[in-house]
Amino acid sequence: MSKTFYVTTSIPYANAVPHVGHAMEFIMADVLARYHRQQGAAVIYGSGSDEHGSKIAETAEMLGKKPEDLAAEMSKVFQQLHKDLNSTPDIFIRTTDKKHIKSAQAIWKNLQKSIYKGKYEGWYDVKQEEFVPENQVDKARTNPNHPQAYQRLSEENYFFKLSDFTDRIKQVIDSEEFVVVPLTRRNEILSLLKEGLEDISISRPKDKLAWGIPVPGDTTQVMYVWVEALMNYITMLDYPEGENFQKFWPANVQIVGKDISRFHAAIWPAMLMALDIPLPKQLYVHGFITMNGEKMSKSIGNVVAPAEILDKYGLDAMRYYFLRHIPSYGDGDFTWERFDAVYHGELANELGNAVQRVASMINRYQQGVIGEYPHPDHDTGPYHEALENQQFDKALEWVWELVRGLNVFIEQEKPWQLAKKPDQSHLREVLAACVGDVLQIAELLTPFLPQTSETIQKIFKDGYVHNYSGVLFPRVESEL
Ligand code: MSP
Repeated sequence: MSKTFYVTTSIPYANAVPHVGHAMEFIMADVLARYHRQQGAAVIYGSGSDEHGSKIAETAEMLGKKPEDLAAEMSKVFQQLHKDLNSTPDIFIRTTDKKHIKSAQAIWKNLQKSIYKGKYEGWYDVKQEEFVPENQVDKARTNPNHPQAYQRLSEENYFFKLSDFTDRIKQVIDSEEFVVVPLTRRNEILSLLKEGLEDISISRPKDKLAWGIPVPGDTTQVMYVWVEALMNYITMLDYPEGENFQKFWPANVQIVGKDISRFHAAIWPAMLMALDIPLPKQLYVHGFITMNGEKMSKSIGNVVAPAEILDKYGLDAMRYYFLRHIPSYGDGDFTWERFDAVYHGELANELGNAVQRVASMINRYQQGVIGEYPHPDHDTGPYHEALENQQFDKALEWVWELVRGLNVFIEQEKPWQLAKKPDQSHLREVLAACVGDVLQIAELLTPFLPQTSETIQKIFKDGYVHNYSGVLFPRVESEL
């Protein structure tokens, strides 16, 4: 049986258009999916849209729309973003899909032993879709990260015995049966677990919030959106009976942002333990993208839409920047100046030139004939190791060592001087070595820059240089 690989993104709320943070997460998952496909594994890359809950109900009301219409519209926008980014999910789940609803209700039933009815008296943060414990609420009664005031709730709902699972979760994280990367995030979770987890509300009364999945056997309650959304990672595999579930669960890597790591490193593992099914192997927590050092927000007016970058610099440039220049293990900044410098410096001048020079020298000195070329003997171990640990930045840095090395090699060997010698054998050897390097670079870039890598491979296909009418990374005039 071939190896399997299952990677997921978080599923964004379908209440607003996507921003670059969503785009980065999709690209990361896509790189892993493409990398493992390239290694011969059977891969499922899962993504989707989170469509129930107060946030969507409220936005829809404000816009004078039905929640289902708003969610359908926004879900399409997210699906289009995947296409625009060349991101290739095998499954895109909408939490309003019948399949998700049916499976979520089956999960609820299987969680029965850990569920009890109680009364919630406290605060709710609609923007974050979170019940906020009293000891975290200050006088302003708002979350410092956004201006919307908390709602006061006093209602009957179902609770999940999260407190039962503190020790077991701590133990699986400690033993690395459940790996949380990077270390800073792992430590954060461990210190949260030290304080102990409290039981959480997992439903809302239907008369207060109708936009949710009905709790099986109780027509007065709908499921709390987070709990239902977390289930997507197995409902998309057709839990409990589905073939995909049998074959692909547990997930190899789940990718989420730092603001939602608690849900994924505490509540989700507890749910899985209560269901008695294995935990994902790895939870990878990425950081936040800031704009000129500031949080991106509509009120500051500094939100960059993915389409703006794509239109101006193209797809692979965007993939490159977010994977190489936003640190894989931390936060990172986007500025147009920096993007422009990276585009012209690293993509056009370093990679683009190397490819162009090799192709044009073979055209000029050997009438386009490449001949036999060696397979380079660079040790690619560090590249693979970086990818095993979701260090996209490190993996690309390593490929760039090869790109720079190739440019240095060309400068040192000076094929234009070798071409003047009567014996052309050394020239042939040098150019063949360059082709070997270029093709290895293209292969290693396949998961990251699929279009560019394909173009490079086409240029050097079948033993001779195919003329490529264009430049890999044409100059972009900017008004910066
Ligand atoms: N719907 C929930 C996820 C449910 S998963 C079962 C949600 N949606 S979200 O749209 O608010 O966020 C989706 C992802 O985008 C999260 O991983 C979040 O961390 C990420 N980002 C949101 N803002 C971001 C940045 N500025 N930078 C990078 N990622 C960011 O949470």
